[in-house]
Amino acid sequence: MHIFLYGPPGTGKSTIGKILAQDLGLQFVDLDRVVEANAAMSIPEIMEQQGETMFRDFETSSLNMLVLESESVIALGGGALLREGNRRLAESKGKVILLTARLETLLERLDQDSIKRPLLAGDLRGKLLSLLVQRDEHYNSFPYRVQVDGKTAEQNAQEAQIILGRHHLSAMGEYDVVVESVGQIGNLSYQRGLQNPIVVTDENVARLHADKVLESLQRVYPSPGLLTVPPGESSKTLDTVNRLWHGFLNAGLDRRSTVVALGGGVIGDLAGFAASTYMRGIQWVAVPTTLLSMVDASLGGKTGFDLPEGKNLIGSFYPPKLVLADPRVLQTLPEPELISGMAEVVKHGVISDPELFHLCTRGLDWVKSNLEELVKRAMAVKIKVIEDDPYEKGFRAALNLGHTVGHAVELVSRFELKHGEAVAIGMVAEARLAERLTVASKGLSDKIGDVLSAVGLPIQIPSELPREEILGAMRVDKKKNASRKAIRFALPAEIGRVELVDVTDLEMALEE
Ligand SMILES: NC(=O)c1ccc[n+]([C@@H]2O[C@H](COP(=O)([O-])OP(=O)(O)OC[C@H]3O[C@@H](n4cnc5c(N)ncnc54)[C@H](O)[C@@H]3O)[C@@H](O)[C@H]2O)c1
Repeated sequence: MHIFLYGPPGTGKSTIGKILAQDLGLQFVDLDRVVEANAAMSIPEIMEQQGETMFRDFETSSLNMLVLESESVIALGGGALLREGNRRLAESKGKVILLTARLETLLERLDQDSIKRPLLAGDLRGKLLSLLVQRDEHYNSFPYRVQVDGKTAEQNAQEAQIILGRHHLSAMGEYDVVVESVGQIGNLSYQRGLQNPIVVTDENVARLHADKVLESLQRVYPSPGLLTVPPGESSKTLDTVNRLWHGFLNAGLDRRSTVVALGGGVIGDLAGFAASTYMRGIQWVAVPTTLLSMVDASLGGKTGFDLPEGKNLIGSFYPPKLVLADPRVLQTLPEPELISGMAEVVKHGVISDPELFHLCTRGLDWVKSNLEELVKRAMAVKIKVIEDDPYEKGFRAALNLGHTVGHAVELVSRFELKHGEAVAIGMVAEARLAERLTVASKGLSDKIGDVLSAVGLPIQIPSELPREEILGAMRVDKKKNASRKAIRFALPAEIGRVELVDVTDLEMALEE
């Protein structure tokens, strides 16, 4: 699928397009340059010597040619989709993102623009204004839009990736993360050269979603396999990994085979780990089916299982070859699981996306009908963090926001509290700690607490949980900085920014 950038002149289609192409590991093509090459003259010359209709004809033929080439980011001229046929072609061969900007921004940019734009020659303001009025309805009819004012080209390219639900990761392995229908898993795996897939899932997800995934795989692979394990954290053991290894052997998997992990974080961790060790490591693909796994567990390449002594004690860094998240599968997710996953979504808003945080203030009903937008925004936050610090040497620790207190509360509740519930409680406690340490100004913890409550999460440590036990659990937290006898907290400084702070007086973290 191509990505077309479209919109009025001066919105930065070429500049943003080049960055977007580089971010996604795709080619960049500027339609105007192709038109000039095909016509063997510049656009002002075509317009002057042959007129606008001829220029539009060149545009149409060049577009028809370009869509046949390999997947690219294509910057279109400001009127390239005025012809209905061109629009249909672009929308059938890819996604069109409309760039928009205020008139003053456009004027400022076009004034400095050295490329001559024949349609705007002379009275720039007057001509641009009348062009915008003329095309208003046309531009407004494109659903995917990026407002470019006041942002850098890099930020606009990042926004385009969020809207597309498409990222290319390269800090730990090279792979794409896409928001797509699960029905595309066959095609997308095949395009990446993946072979001989076997689906690993749990019994709940198998019942609800395995057929569609298998059908999609069957369209391109002769006989994809299926292995099912019991659902839940109690399956995340060496025993299950062992069963998966034997299942792979019995199914005849060799070094070129592919494991497709279809499920929540438990399945991703288990199947990813089994893939990382089977025959010294075979390829795997993640198809996350819980909110938590879409915005968190499937991203970052951590796999593993639990020991009786503690969670996630054995594991590997082993990134998949593809992550495909389909928010529609969340329709079958039990509500408590959805709410629990919202803790990570709110957390990602607090870490670096105030707009995402603001969306969460709209409450659970809004969330349920806008999962695609939330998944796209929340996954982008984690992707940015793990690309900057894949092996948790520094700022990746920001993702621990809410988890230092949260893990301890979860443990002391004997896992009666769901992970997300414990993280929500932890986030509010840690925001209060941030206020006390003047890392944040007063009121931040209430603001975060209000949003968590609005999506159905608890924010108070249950009174029956002994404070001393929670403190004890925090002291043995694995993130303890032994040399300084302090715990490194990720504390919210404001919505959209966290700071890593070493704290010695842990009791402060539990003060009301
Ligand atoms: N690898 C990482 O970086 C990372 C990060 C965070 C969490 N995790 C791990 O993730 C695990 C938790 O993941 P989780 O919350 O997704 O739990 P989960 O995988 O246990 O799924 C929760 C429940 O939802 C069911 N389910 C899943 N998708 C469904 C769907 N679409 N419809 C209906 N039911 C569905 C499952 O069968 C299960 O009963 C923990 O083990 C945690 O350690 C890993």
